[in-house]
Amino acid sequence: MTELFDSYRSNYRDVVQSSIDFSGLPHSFFMRAKADLLRDLIAQRLGAQKPAMLDVGCGVGSFHPLLRNMVGSLSGIDVSSDCITQARINNSDVNYPDFDGRRFPFVDGRFDLVTAICVMHHVAPAEWAYFMSEMRRVVRPGGLICVIEHNPLNPLTRLAVSRCEFDRDAALLGAGTARKLMADGGLREIGARYFLLLPSEAKSARRVENALSRVPLGAQYAAFATV
Ligand SMILES: C[S@@+](CC[C@H](N)C(=O)[O-])C[C@H]1O[C@@H](n2cnc3c(N)ncnc32)[C@H](O)[C@@H]1O
Repeated sequence: MTELFDSYRSNYRDVVQSSIDFSGLPHSFFMRAKADLLRDLIAQRLGAQKPAMLDVGCGVGSFHPLLRNMVGSLSGIDVSSDCITQARINNSDVNYPDFDGRRFPFVDGRFDLVTAICVMHHVAPAEWAYFMSEMRRVVRPGGLICVIEHNPLNPLTRLAVSRCEFDRDAALLGAGTARKLMADGGLREIGARYFLLLPSEAKSARRVENALSRVPLGAQYAAFATV
């Protein structure tokens, strides 16, 4: 079956960039902020161990080079088989198995960490609970789930989404909804952190962002929980 993102296999980054050009920031800035946030979360919630990680909805794997030093092993899946073909070309050291779009192709408890980065707003809301249950199923007890999403309360985020051609059918979900899905799915130690508030990677800017991470101002948020 053809998936929406099949047609963005070769120009995914350019399409995202054109939707955020108004910010004056490159796509790589946003990706580095996500990598920094994940590094923090891994240190805080999983300790010194380098996790076995699954990235659900990984697209063409453009985020994966930033994870190389942070994880012990990395797998990625996506409903778009064309994107996965490109991801395999981009990152020969990452495991990208085939995926039927429904049941994740892994045994229970296979991973320490599972992420879904800007994916759930492309999943039909009626499927959100099932999607979360699959994320939970493949994480070991004590492991971590992290969902990174657009913050619908941020007007600049809404502007970027409205300018992004593949976000036309997006169903944005706020951090409260993500946390509720996690609670309903039996996850524990649920938290959320808003980020991407300031257009700078300076340490002082990051300190301000961290201090305001509970205030729903940032362009995106991470909702996370322990299995
Ligand atoms: C906006 S892209 C994000 C790609 C990547 N996570 C990133 O941040 O660069 C959303 C991706 O989610 C994938 N996707 C949508 N629904 C999915 C599902 N139910 N399971 C797995 N992937 C899905 C799409 O095919 C697409 O590649």
